[in-house]
Amino acid sequence: MRVDVISIFPEYFAPLEVSLIGKARERGILEVHLHQLRDWTHDVHRTVDDTPYGGGPGMVMKPGPWGEAVDGVLAADPASAPRVIVPTPSGTPFTQKLAMEYAAEPWLLFTPARYEGIDSRVMAEYGARLRVDEVSIGDYVLAGGEVAVLVMVEAIGRLLPGVLGNACSAVDDSFAPGSMENLLEGPVYTKPPEWRGHEVPEVLLSGHHGRIARWRRDEALRRTAKNRPELLTALDPARLDKHDRRLLEELGFPVSGENMAH
Ligand code: ADE
Repeated sequence: MRVDVISIFPEYFAPLEVSLIGKARERGILEVHLHQLRDWTHDVHRTVDDTPYGGGPGMVMKPGPWGEAVDGVLAADPASAPRVIVPTPSGTPFTQKLAMEYAAEPWLLFTPARYEGIDSRVMAEYGARLRVDEVSIGDYVLAGGEVAVLVMVEAIGRLLPGVLGNACSAVDDSFAPGSMENLLEGPVYTKPPEWRGHEVPEVLLSGHHGRIARWRRDEALRRTAKNRPELLTALDPARLDKHDRRLLEELGFPVSGENMAH
């Protein structure tokens, strides 16, 4: 996969040289190209922002440099076209599902903004020719989109074939599709079996795969009820067995007759 990032702070992306993503780059699974937006300005101050039309606080990123920068990146491979991702708190939520969708793309272009965002005509211009997604990583406002890009590239990069040591690691993820869809992962343990008086739950030492799977599912349901109760209402009732429903009732989340599994 090829990833391009245009930013006024390309140095912000140094973490992409480290760990899993750094290794993926070394191994040629992921190719990252960083671009300085100011390289496409033409004034001595290398200006990228201006005051907003209509008034109001803050500054807006000028369309000119962004247009030239995006055109410059597109020219790298005129036969192909990237999916463009514009990080903004006003965007559609970034989810594991979207990470999986992006991981299947050959080329992504991220355009993290500073200030109050990018002049909207830039998204209109490229939206007419390319797939342009405005995406938010959560309901809070960052000082700029750079950290959002780091978050997304890490979530996407670990899904690329050959990046995770154990291909099954991503299968069990919280939010990954499958039997644990919409459930948070439960607690995990490693050696020693006792630490500061805290013991590893006996079932995990039992070697009994069926009991372990059931325990893990119970813990996932408990943790989801405690930390993200709204996810329980989104569970597919067809995926809930009798044991699930009994536990959910105990936890105060009865599955109504209407969405009862058979
Ligand atoms: N830029 C500023 N805040 C953001 C957010 N929550 N998600 C994506 N980009 C952002």
